[in-house]
Amino acid sequence: MQRLKKVGKVLGVVVLVLVLVVAGAYGWASWKTSSLLSQTFEAHEVDFPIPFPLTEEEIDALRQERLAAMPPVEAPAVEPAEADGAEGEEPAAEPEPPPPAPDPLAGVDLDALALERAVARGRHLVEARYACIECHGDDFAGGTMVDDPMIGSLHGPNLTGGQGSRVADWSANDWDHAVRHGIFPDGKPSAMPAEDYQRMSDRELSDIIAYIRSFPAVSQTMAPVSLGPLGTVLMATGQLPLSVTVVESHDTPHAVLPPEAAPTAEFGEHLAGVCTGCHRADLRGGPIAAGPPDWLPAANLTPHADGLAAWSYDDFRTAMREFRRPDGTELRAPMSLMQRYISNMDDTELEALWAYLQSLEPQPTGT
Ligand code: HEC
Ligand code: HEC
Repeated sequence: MQRLKKVGKVLGVVVLVLVLVVAGAYGWASWKTSSLLSQTFEAHEVDFPIPFPLTEEEIDALRQERLAAMPPVEAPAVEPAEADGAEGEEPAAEPEPPPPAPDPLAGVDLDALALERAVARGRHLVEARYACIECHGDDFAGGTMVDDPMIGSLHGPNLTGGQGSRVADWSANDWDHAVRHGIFPDGKPSAMPAEDYQRMSDRELSDIIAYIRSFPAVSQTMAPVSLGPLGTVLMATGQLPLSVTVVESHDTPHAVLPPEAAPTAEFGEHLAGVCTGCHRADLRGGPIAAGPPDWLPAANLTPHADGLAAWSYDDFRTAMREFRRPDGTELRAPMSLMQRYISNMDDTELEALWAYLQSLEPQPTGT
């Protein structure tokens, strides 16, 4: 009896100590997390137009296109002028200015055309590559990234500029900081996964903003980020790092333009920026650090025997279009989350990705 009482007492003390330790540790984790979140960060100042104006080449191409489509009525007036220019090395003091050639671009709204093209490019970027709608909603009025009682709730805010959205009067610099650095305009760190957008050029971000702004303004306020007990501990212990601390550099200038869209390894490397979050920077695959523990490891995409050594371009193309491997098995989650985007990639994009994957050093799968 006496003995039992003693054991009971000891147990009680042990439990009490445990509770205190856990409470203390949790208190520390909460304090640590809130101090991490209240830090401020800085990044370079950037500026770019929204939308990008038409380039000289685009304007030239447009001029040629319109000239070709013009009725040939003006031809007699133009011909002698052309002949003069061709032989006369010394234009004889410009006697009679030829009647002004009609401007093929008269009446063309170049700004409206630039916006139209930017929105079309932005739409393709969002639909085929940069999965903004995954967390910000199909209409950009807000969505859910994570909603889990243990991890916490992380919502993608409303980006439409309507009530409840903060971005209505954001500058290019504010967008750059949010999307490519994980920093709010006030310097506070954001849960926006900026590390995934490190290869995004200024024009791509500008196109995406133009596309987002083409959506109607919606009134919706998303709840701010709140971490659950596990999320708090993970963040305090560095296992759920803030994007701003993962992004390698906050002052390296971003490319202004993406590489030319062509079936080249260079363009493929640019596109593969959206694969590296799971398949890793060197694309050798392995367990996905950024994902929940139940995610399957990412496949090895290098030309190694454990990777895609035996695949042809057709195998790759079929896998990306139908989400099946050459042996007919389906590509499973989380790869299947990418289907809605990758299946919108055009042939040039798939050829470029393949050219890049084939150019990689064969490497065994990551561990
Ligand atoms: C995996 C989910 C996810 C994806 C994908 C994503 N975002 Fe976000 N984004 C978030 C979350 C969550 C926040 C809010 C962060 C916070 O409150 O700390 C956010 C914040 C933002 C903000 C700041 C808005 C504000 O009101 O402060 C902008 C702008 C933004 N994202 C744009 C984009 C764009 C553009 C893309 C695509 C290129 C994108 N996001 C892709 C989750 C995501
Ligand atoms: C969200 C994480 C994620 C992203 C992003 C992602 N993948 Fe995957 N990928 C996976 C996982 C996990 C597998 C393994 C799926 C399985 O075993 O069924 C996989 C499998 C594959 C396979 C099949 C390889 C094989 O040997 O079976 C190919 C090909 C592939 N991914 C290409 C890509 C490309 C190209 C991109 C970028 C455009 C990409 N993935 C982006 C997670 C991802």
